[in-house]
Amino acid sequence: MPLTLNPRTQALPVSGIRQFFNQLVDYPDAVNLTIGQPDFPTPEAVKQAGKDAITNNMTGYSHNAGLIELRIEAADFFKDRYGLDYNAQTEIIVTNGATEALDAVFRTILEPGDEVIVPSPCYTGYGPIIEMNGGKPVLLDTSHTGLVPTAENLKALVTNKTKAILFNFPSNPTGVTLTREQMAPLVEELSQHDFFVVTDEIYSENTFEGEHTSFASFDEIKDRTFLVQGLSKSHSMTGWRMGFLLGPEGFMQHVLKVHMYNAVCASLPSQYAAIEALKNNRHAPEEMNRAYKERRDFVYGKLLDMGLDVVKPRGAFYIFPSVEKYGMTSFEFATRLLKEGGVAAVPGSAFTPFGEGFLRISYAYSMPTLQKAMDRMAKWLKTLE
Ligand SMILES: Cc1ncc(COP(=O)(O)O)c(C=O)c1O
Repeated sequence: MPLTLNPRTQALPVSGIRQFFNQLVDYPDAVNLTIGQPDFPTPEAVKQAGKDAITNNMTGYSHNAGLIELRIEAADFFKDRYGLDYNAQTEIIVTNGATEALDAVFRTILEPGDEVIVPSPCYTGYGPIIEMNGGKPVLLDTSHTGLVPTAENLKALVTNKTKAILFNFPSNPTGVTLTREQMAPLVEELSQHDFFVVTDEIYSENTFEGEHTSFASFDEIKDRTFLVQGLSKSHSMTGWRMGFLLGPEGFMQHVLKVHMYNAVCASLPSQYAAIEALKNNRHAPEEMNRAYKERRDFVYGKLLDMGLDVVKPRGAFYIFPSVEKYGMTSFEFATRLLKEGGVAAVPGSAFTPFGEGFLRISYAYSMPTLQKAMDRMAKWLKTLE
């Protein structure tokens, strides 16, 4: 018998970002604005808690859902920050990053051929996670509506195969987030249908204007909503792999089986570090946000000076200008910006076809790096005139 692989896995595309990154090695002097993780260290006390756990031999398995002390701390955190009520015993699972939380949800809810509506441009991981679990991503185009999904466009995509919608605000790659007023018509539309809401709010602590509102805070849909969260961005802990999944008890008991058979539990030293992050370091994102805001204002101002059309981001650490007017694909634009201009940023087309015509710039970099990059970019754009 020939050695065949799962065709679904074989058909998965290599990430568009990866194709672009492969070119970076040839341009070591380029200023790199492609990375999507905080450029700050994990807070000292959080690191110490992880080290102490290892020193004290806290290195075994935990309860499958995570240490109860951590789940209690997480329940308190989400109540305090976003007014959400979740039962630490039955409605919270500690996962290996937000990524595993997303995978566990989709494994639990999807049947072959089920459709998942995804406002796009969106994070590169979503399509593959949905497809690996037998689902079909149905992209909701936000590129002509200010990078915000509208209720009318959502309604038009609902079919009898729709199983879920996957939101991500604040958004990677756009930096856009929704106000409660913008969310209300979407919630109203969702409440007319019977499908799940999966909301990846991994950047919620990186909200610069106003308060973050969670989709889980709407009573009309809370009973069918899974909230995906984590400490990767808020506490600069990407490598610790600390995520949370919060959802209604009746569904979470089934998600827990998926998590248990797939991962057993999250890393124990990381769980102790996470307790410290949530108990004594809730202020950490605020300090990072002061820097992000200064950088955002700087980059936004420079892009406007360059004559680019750009939505001012209100969260995360990305900015997503339109480069459509230059008459090239975003891949061509990013490649030439790299080769001729000496700046690396990710082509919008890496974030689904609805990202075509845009460029994703990460501003999780120091001010001198951003200054250098903006100077170079402005100079290069002048050569196109
Ligand atoms: C929108 C979004 N969701 C999830 C992730 C992955 O998060 P984690 O490191 O917690 O798995 C990222 C990472 O860039 C992201 O941008």
